[in-house]
Amino acid sequence: MSSDHITPIPHRCWAEIDLAALERNLKSIRASLPASMKYVAVVKADAYGHGLHQAAARMMHSGADLFAVANVSEAISLRELGPDWPILLLSPLLPEEDRFLTEYKLAATLSTEDEIARFAAVGKSCGEPISVHLKIDTGMGRLGVWHVNAPALYAKIIANSHLQLAGIFTHFASPEDIAFTDEQRRLFLHALDRCEGISLNEIFVHADNSAGIASMPEESPFNAVRVGLLQFGILPHSHSLLAAVNPQPVFSFRTRVGVVKQLPSGTTISYGRTHTLVRDSTIAVLCAGYGDGIPRAASNRAEVLIHGQRCPLLGRVTMDQTIVDVTDNPNVICGDEAVLVGQQQGAEISITEFSEWAETIPWETLCSVTKRVPRLYRTPLGI
Ligand SMILES: Cc1ncc(COP(=O)(O)O)c(C=O)c1O
Repeated sequence: MSSDHITPIPHRCWAEIDLAALERNLKSIRASLPASMKYVAVVKADAYGHGLHQAAARMMHSGADLFAVANVSEAISLRELGPDWPILLLSPLLPEEDRFLTEYKLAATLSTEDEIARFAAVGKSCGEPISVHLKIDTGMGRLGVWHVNAPALYAKIIANSHLQLAGIFTHFASPEDIAFTDEQRRLFLHALDRCEGISLNEIFVHADNSAGIASMPEESPFNAVRVGLLQFGILPHSHSLLAAVNPQPVFSFRTRVGVVKQLPSGTTISYGRTHTLVRDSTIAVLCAGYGDGIPRAASNRAEVLIHGQRCPLLGRVTMDQTIVDVTDNPNVICGDEAVLVGQQQGAEISITEFSEWAETIPWETLCSVTKRVPRLYRTPLGI
């Protein structure tokens, strides 16, 4: 068939990404910080499901200074956007991946002596020092050199001509716990104090993620923040002081009604028969299920918006369909839009609310929207 005759296939379930909101969020986060504070944009996991290229390209023009990704594949993909942007790998490298550090000009997170030897070997063989950010473990118990041992590892990096220290950082374990976070800040600062000859204004010194910014002291001793969730318009927790930044959601998650039908009282709904209709009802079958990223845990709990009205989920979410009660929403017809996360006719379901129904967190919800779901960029050009 000639391409003239191809009819576009309508979307059954899609995510809308508002890049102008992303830009506004980044700028308003920056505006809430001291002007000298550098901005590390965390864009791992496909920019939290928003699309790495589209999100990062927008952030390059909105005030990001450095991009942080999880792994080498993400970094290589991001490198396509430009040869000069600094890129930091947040996850450890596998030994076979070390060579990509020079090939794609990436900075590595460094936590161990073994990594010093490996990265320096790569630097030596290519004749250029490898850029590293020393990570200090102040209580996360994951990556990073234990804070007590950080000055010794720092000294080894500095003494190695095949490595170049580009940054130093720590990661908060529980940033909503201000006392524990303050203790992590104190341990980080104490470790920095003991790094002999360190010149903090020549490197990125970063600790604060989205929630960390809320409790950051006015005179922060650090010169960079490392932000993920907040730039996508989502508060890290409900009592966050960051409401003042007024973040606007970037992501919404939508589907359509596939079938509307009447069922008698007493009928059970979906697999496992976990819901029984208590009245004669009208149900709408939506064109999305856990194969698209509606968590099964949201079964019998979540709501969707149709015609701006909340409609409860009935029974279990299935792979390709989800059933909702539209008995009190009489004008629903096949083809109508149903909003899982986002706004419709002045009503809104936030990603935080949706995540609570699914007993998870917004970070995981965003990462769980599957490949089957196209991302539609509504505002790709200027604001
Ligand atoms: C090391 C590191 N830094 C920063 C972030 C960004 O955190 P948030 O999305 O809470 O801003 C993450 C996210 O998981 C992370 O793993």
